[in-house]
Amino acid sequence: MTTTKTILITGATTGIGRHAALHLAGRGLRVIASGRRRELLAALRAEAEAAGLPIDTVVLDVTDAATLRAAVLEVERLTDGRGLDGLVNNAGYGHPAPLSEMSDADLRRQFETNVFGLMATTRAFLPQLQRSRGRIVNLSSVGGRVTLPLFGAYNASKYAVESLSDALRLELAPFGVAVSIVEPGPIRSEFGARAMDAVQRDAAVTARSAYAPVLARADEIKAFMQRREAPPIVVSRAIEHALVARRPRARYVVPFSSRLMLVAARLLPVAWTDALLRRLVGLTPEALGQPAARCALPAPGR
Ligand SMILES: NC(=O)c1ccc[n+]([C@@H]2O[C@H](COP(=O)([O-])OP(=O)(O)OC[C@H]3O[C@@H](n4cnc5c(N)ncnc54)[C@H](OP(=O)(O)O)[C@@H]3O)[C@@H](O)[C@H]2O)c1
Repeated sequence: MTTTKTILITGATTGIGRHAALHLAGRGLRVIASGRRRELLAALRAEAEAAGLPIDTVVLDVTDAATLRAAVLEVERLTDGRGLDGLVNNAGYGHPAPLSEMSDADLRRQFETNVFGLMATTRAFLPQLQRSRGRIVNLSSVGGRVTLPLFGAYNASKYAVESLSDALRLELAPFGVAVSIVEPGPIRSEFGARAMDAVQRDAAVTARSAYAPVLARADEIKAFMQRREAPPIVVSRAIEHALVARRPRARYVVPFSSRLMLVAARLLPVAWTDALLRRLVGLTPEALGQPAARCALPAPGR
């Protein structure tokens, strides 16, 4: 790929998407940053302009077919009909909740954005990407390879992204379109705060929850994850490699510590990782006021 290629990023109003937009523009790519919030897109454009970086913006809610159709036309217009050379499917969020208590509506919403939104965006821009023999970069997560308690809905959506991306990679290779998956571990962004918002929005449910003592510790768990967050540059560099390298990789796990975590998760017996995760989150019969004998899973350490 040469330096004048045009890349569209979804969910570029905050976090990884916003950082990647500025990073890629700084590396000489023409970036079209998309998102739902016009005022944040305007702020990004202003910051880019001040830095002399080539960033255009387009309003796009990946769950809204009308904004998607309009975005495709706008990209055609901005590129004089040439279209995209790269698509970064970054838009996504995590809704933490015990699966037994999560509403169908919340579960469907999680998949609407992270899975169906990603697929709709991919299909919409595919004609342009086939024309350019371009690249698709899908943001998954290490949570698309291992499952955390209370993040089952999010993890399932990212497992789906993993499998869909593998199928797309195989199916689009004959058309010259390369598909890569980026799998970040904990990264500094709005992700954790928004996940906390979801827990707080569900406060009424939380008060009645069988998991109330665990949910009450959500702040503590968030702080534990925050201490492990890497800066978004590690993700932006992986996205850049997937877009410009002569041989893009199928998967990028970032940062390096997350790669080690995935290896450990593969090697350790499931009973051990279950015990570790349950202890980390506080999913023990004692914490939940349950007699140990009624717990279906082995107690930690057995
Ligand atoms: N941060 C992490 O630790 C981490 C780890 C692994 C994977 N990831 C993945 O990285 C991606 C980016 O997350 P982030 O960490 O940068 O979180 P973030 O700061 O919360 O950014 C998420 C972005 O997605 C956008 N978005 C959400 N729903 C959308 C929709 N329907 N249409 C268009 N945009 C939408 C948000 O837009 P609004 O501002 O309009 O809500 C925001 O711009 C996500 O796919 C996430 O799952 C993050």
